[in-house]
Amino acid sequence: MQKFIIEGGKRLSGELKLQGSKNSSLPIMAAAMLAQGESVLKNCPKLTDVYSASRILNVLGCKCSVSDTVVINSEGISGTEIPESLMREMRSSIMFMGAMLGRLGECTVSIPGGCELGPRPIDMHINALKKLGAEVSDEGGRINCRLRGGRAKGTRITLPFPSVGATENIILCAVTAEGETIINNAAREPEICDLCGFLRSCGAEIHGDGCGSIIIQGREKLHGCEYTVMPDRIAGATYLSMTAAAGGEIILKNTCTAEMEPFLSVLEQTGCGIYAAPDTIYLRSGRRLKAVRDRIRTMPHPGFPTDAQAVLMAALVTADGTSVFEENIFDCRYRHTAALVKMGADIEILGKVAVVRGVKTLHGAEAEATDLRGGAAMAAAALSAEGVSVISNISHIDRGYEKFEEAVRTLGGNIQRV
Ligand code: UD1
Repeated sequence: MQKFIIEGGKRLSGELKLQGSKNSSLPIMAAAMLAQGESVLKNCPKLTDVYSASRILNVLGCKCSVSDTVVINSEGISGTEIPESLMREMRSSIMFMGAMLGRLGECTVSIPGGCELGPRPIDMHINALKKLGAEVSDEGGRINCRLRGGRAKGTRITLPFPSVGATENIILCAVTAEGETIINNAAREPEICDLCGFLRSCGAEIHGDGCGSIIIQGREKLHGCEYTVMPDRIAGATYLSMTAAAGGEIILKNTCTAEMEPFLSVLEQTGCGIYAAPDTIYLRSGRRLKAVRDRIRTMPHPGFPTDAQAVLMAALVTADGTSVFEENIFDCRYRHTAALVKMGADIEILGKVAVVRGVKTLHGAEAEATDLRGGAAMAAAALSAEGVSVISNISHIDRGYEKFEEAVRTLGGNIQRV
């Protein structure tokens, strides 16, 4: 099990090119299976989750290679089953359900893995796919789905909550359905728009993504294309929070600044200087940060992203005053706080609320990454802390950050992988 050894207490300074989005790349890789022929994806980050998606595609008979670009050729697709071991590697494996139904009319999957953030049911995915014509049965945890007549039928679906994953699965199944599908209360996350952008480049007809109501006219066939995946707004939030926490300055290039606004507008309240152009963000963190006055409520986009809650908290633990978080998406998304407290933070958890009373400094400690963003938060806190921290279980961090330690070193941080 690899670890990060981090010596903190140094100001950070440097220029970073932001990686491509993990949360876009994975559904887009699943979507490539719907396109006949070859798709070439640029700006996919080289992450363990991307390699897992590649393994799934190869098991199904597609040819997928990951190097500077991800190249997927779906000509040889034949398999309809994803082994349980591959399903368990990441949450996004569930995206293959909609894509396999859309391309092959049937699939067998199991409950996906991924970060343990509390219960992560898939009832909305299943109910929506049933509305599109799937017959679904569960045999000891293996979920068998088969489209009646081999092809989905367009329909109206109103989601009880704008679930990102369920919206993606519906889109993936509906783009090759017969007729029109309307998704009401659809998720509006930028990664949904990126998925739709890719599918449109493959010949799909989709309108309204990003607006809550998505209208899809099913097409019999889609074709491969070349597509550039959007930047990773959560990795961006992480490197900005890290610099805010440690003090210093960062020029972040290749950003999606407009899509990061719900995060940036909160970060700005800490008193950091932020200058933002459409694809570049400059942040300067001088004196001690100020606590954020308004309660930070995680909400579906365009609310404050749940994925940025932990990394921002790592900066606010040493801010002047008290900040209050309210986690509204997942039940167990404060698992990183125990490590921050070990480093000297003052955090009180009251159900879905976390009260963060700023302390003067943190000190190094040993901590175990609990999940992807929680692990990144621990690394950010360690960089601002006096002394040495050891963070173990960093495979969680590797699932979401491309060359994490190289990025930290580019900013002048002292980090080693052992
Ligand atoms: C969520 C985040 C997404 C983030 C990702 C990884 C939101 C709205 N979604 O997406 O931004 O990138 O985690 O951390 O912030 N739910 C059900 N039944 C379902 C599906 C979901 O009850 O069938 C519930 C979940 O338990 C959760 C909420 O709906 O409480 C949001 O889930 P969803 O958006 O689907 O989660 P992800 O797609 O994992």
